Amino acid sequence: MIRVEGLRKTFQSKNETVHAIRDVSFEVGSGEIVTLLGPSGCGKTTTLRCIAGLEKPTGGKIAIGDRHVVDVEAGAFIPPHRRDLGMVFQSYAIWPHMNVIENVAYALEGRGLSKADMRQQAMKALDTVQMAHLADRPAPRLSGGQQQRVAIARALVGHPQALLFDEPLSNLDAKLRNEMRKELRRLQQQIGLTSVYVTHDQSEALAISDWVILMKDGAIVEKGRPTDIYRRPRSVFTAQFIGTTNLIPGRLESRDGSQVAVATSHGRLVGVEPTGALEVGAKVQVSVRPEAMHAGAAAGPNVNSLSGALELAVFAGSAVEAEVRANGEKILCLLDYDADRTAGHDISLHFSSDDTLVLADA
Ligand SMILES: Nc1ncnc2c1ncn2[C@@H]1O[C@H](COP(=O)(O)OP(=O)(O)OP(=O)(O)O)[C@@H](O)[C@H]1O
Ligand SMILES: [Mg+2]
Repeated sequence: MIRVEGLRKTFQSKNETVHAIRDVSFEVGSGEIVTLLGPSGCGKTTTLRCIAGLEKPTGGKIAIGDRHVVDVEAGAFIPPHRRDLGMVFQSYAIWPHMNVIENVAYALEGRGLSKADMRQQAMKALDTVQMAHLADRPAPRLSGGQQQRVAIARALVGHPQALLFDEPLSNLDAKLRNEMRKELRRLQQQIGLTSVYVTHDQSEALAISDWVILMKDGAIVEKGRPTDIYRRPRSVFTAQFIGTTNLIPGRLESRDGSQVAVATSHGRLVGVEPTGALEVGAKVQVSVRPEAMHAGAAAGPNVNSLSGALELAVFAGSAVEAEVRANGEKILCLLDYDADRTAGHDISLHFSSDDTLVLADA
């Protein structure tokens, strides 16, 4: 539905050239929600603005449906209002002098619809975001979450081909943000809208996306399904940016397909090397998530173990967050809530080779 090919954007100011996007390509299938995720300044908003037509790219093409909305080499550029897209930004951009339904209906101005038709369609869009009961409320007299719902209804009302979101939840408090995430996911599944969603919040990206695209310095580092990108990151950058992980340095000792053995200060660890590109002898980082660590000794061909001293254990409701000092390295683990929490005592940890990822040392 949306195809971005070889996109480049350079900003030129008096004494500086900023390469905001360097050769970015990806596709968004019909009905899919694809998230652009990455640290501040990596080019997410610029990519989105190029799709919207609010920014003219320096190179590349973008197609929406079966037409090219921009093709730099061919000199083609379709202006934003003719791209048939709905947009939702971090600032809700609600008209303060209008009530809720007028805010939504306003998006239909200029389409030659009667006032009654506009009102009816606006009401339908408000119903989708569960705001129909507040249709006649003055827009400024809404909570942040309610204003954001109105902004979403306004983006939906004209039945655009796709929706673009730029950090739409970042002004909301943590609890509301969690609710709105689920709400957006529900909406997505209910009406099957194609969306590109920008966020720097990895847990938000994992929660709402069909695909996550991780960006860094204007380029794509990795694209994957949320579960794959979390469970099988292909680089140290991804493993660290998405979730929390332990990194243990080592050297690749032997390989049998994607199964590898690594020499580390904790002895030999067996794990999975997801890229297939690392050679024996390579410097690597072994990545193990805290929740993959289990207390107690265990042995077997597919089990790794290490031991150290429990330095800190904090009760966190469903689990105990613990720090173990092993060979001078701090290992974070999530242990069962009944784990012995006496600091200072020795503790053995084991983790499956399937949860042990071997990545190139960055
Ligand atoms: N109009 C502009 N002029 C010059 N440089 C710009 C302009 N807009 C963006 N940039 C630069 O382009 C790079 C990418 O910016 P962009 O806004 O796309 O980042 P982002 O990933 O959305 O970051 P954030 O998470 O902080 O919103 C940054 O280095 C930024 O400073
Ligand atoms: Mg941004």
